[in-house]
Amino acid sequence: MNIIVTGGAGFIGSAVIRQYIKETEHNIINVDALTYAGNLESLSEVEKNPRYHFEHAHICDKEAMEGIFKEYQPDAIMHLAA
Ligand SMILES: NC(=O)c1ccc[n+]([C@@H]2O[C@H](COP(=O)([O-])OP(=O)(O)OC[C@H]3O[C@@H](n4cnc5c(N)ncnc54)[C@H](O)[C@@H]3O)[C@@H](O)[C@H]2O)c1
Repeated sequence: MNIIVTGGAGFIGSAVIRQYIKETEHNIINVDALTYAGNLESLSEVEKNPRYHFEHAHICDKEAMEGIFKEYQPDAIMHLAA
């Protein structure tokens, strides 16, 4: 499955992504605006995994989100951006 995780550079999202990359075969697309709360270092252990993708985008940016949806055709979305 292709799973979009919004806010994946945050506290909960990064933990979810690390677990999903390590324990499942899903493709994970991290969509994060990298606000003060976002920290990509928390994903350093999975960043080179070919099933992990990062998109620097704001979830309110309709055009960017439509492009991400078109590119990745997600089966599920876990919405953790806050
Ligand atoms: N941490 C907790 O203990 C806890 C408990 C219960 C519920 N929650 C809820 O879970 C969610 C995530 O919590 P967290 O602690 O991981 O938050 P966090 O602040 O650590 O992470 C939020 C992430 O969302 C990103 N973000 C913010 N606005 C964005 C936007 N417009 N577009 C894209 N990305 C954006 C930030 O860059 C950051 O990486 C929140 O809704 C929070 O209320 C958290």
